[in-house]
Amino acid sequence: MPPTSPLRLASSLFEASFASRPAAGASAPGRVNLLGEHTDYNGGPVLPFALPQRTVVLAGPGEGWQAVSGVDSAVVSFDPTAAPEGRWTDYLAGVIRVLDGMRAAPPGGRIAVASTVPAGAGLSSSAALSVAAARAVSHLAGRRLSREALVEVAFHAEHDVVGVQCGRMDQMIVVHAAARHAALIETAEGSVTPIPFDQPVLVFETGVAHRLADGEYNRRRGECRAALAACRVAGVEAVDLAGVPESELERLRAAMPAVLHRRLTHVVRESARTRAAAMALSVRDYPKFGEYLVEGHRSIRDDFESSCGEADRLVESAMRHGAWGARLTGAGWGGAVLVMAPPDRLASLTSGVSADFRREVGRGPTVWTARASGGVRGERAG
Ligand code: GLA
Repeated sequence: MPPTSPLRLASSLFEASFASRPAAGASAPGRVNLLGEHTDYNGGPVLPFALPQRTVVLAGPGEGWQAVSGVDSAVVSFDPTAAPEGRWTDYLAGVIRVLDGMRAAPPGGRIAVASTVPAGAGLSSSAALSVAAARAVSHLAGRRLSREALVEVAFHAEHDVVGVQCGRMDQMIVVHAAARHAALIETAEGSVTPIPFDQPVLVFETGVAHRLADGEYNRRRGECRAALAACRVAGVEAVDLAGVPESELERLRAAMPAVLHRRLTHVVRESARTRAAAMALSVRDYPKFGEYLVEGHRSIRDDFESSCGEADRLVESAMRHGAWGARLTGAGWGGAVLVMAPPDRLASLTSGVSADFRREVGRGPTVWTARASGGVRGERAG
């Protein structure tokens, strides 16, 4: 963790930039998804936990909208009604626009943001920002939104305004997370089942930044829609891709192009695997849980094709050094690999995997340890 807490940094940024004190504040965590990748927009389950790293958003009244972030300390003006500009403030604009539609946004404001959530690492820095902003800005307008409403505001901001066709996993875990617990989220029903989880998880950042809006993610969504349409033409009456029975997979091979069948296979098997893994986790069978992680990684590498070479190397190296399991977490095409290992192996595994990566890739991976932490909360502003 960095020496200055994000709350202290956001407070001093606010006061230095706007010569006043904030009136509302909130913070929200990043997340690691243990298993269930690209299932959330297909009606399947996901199994994330929240990180200790958080994004703090402080808000105060003002005319028009201005924001400052700890990344560069530059004050920027933005217009929530304008088209997205490819800047970080798009997320704030999205949140304010959705809140405004619910009469839960003030007419203008000042916002300071500071974060310890790594950006572009598949750890949900965007949901941390959107959820914390939704809570802080709605408080500034004198509104207290329910947890469900916070999820919806952050989801619609990212999905409808910023234009990433994401599912709801990130917003749901960022809002509902409990310390020392992972959560099995069934996205079709919207149910959240906490599962005790106090194991340390190693997170290796590949150093390959992904940009969700860059197209691969939205392309996969299109492929999943096309695969579902082909299943229906072939007589399968599933509401979502995750609902296609595994027993139909072989027959459906002839019903669609091979690439769509690979996407279908990933979503169907990943859904079954995630539920089985949640069972293993709840009885603390970590070696079994690790096997599911590795199977999940192979599935995104071969069937969903959302991995990258650096992540594949990290997973293989972690397994060589005695991990229970490892996989690329988050949307993919870069980002971070999670590793679970027996506690007495963590130190040697960290140095062994780092040395392998340096030799194979030519630079060191950033690595740190995470434990399941709590979700969004209010922060005392000012
Ligand atoms: C991103 C999206 C999520 C989910 C994952 C892939 O994090 O925001 O909704 O689809 O990718 O599992």
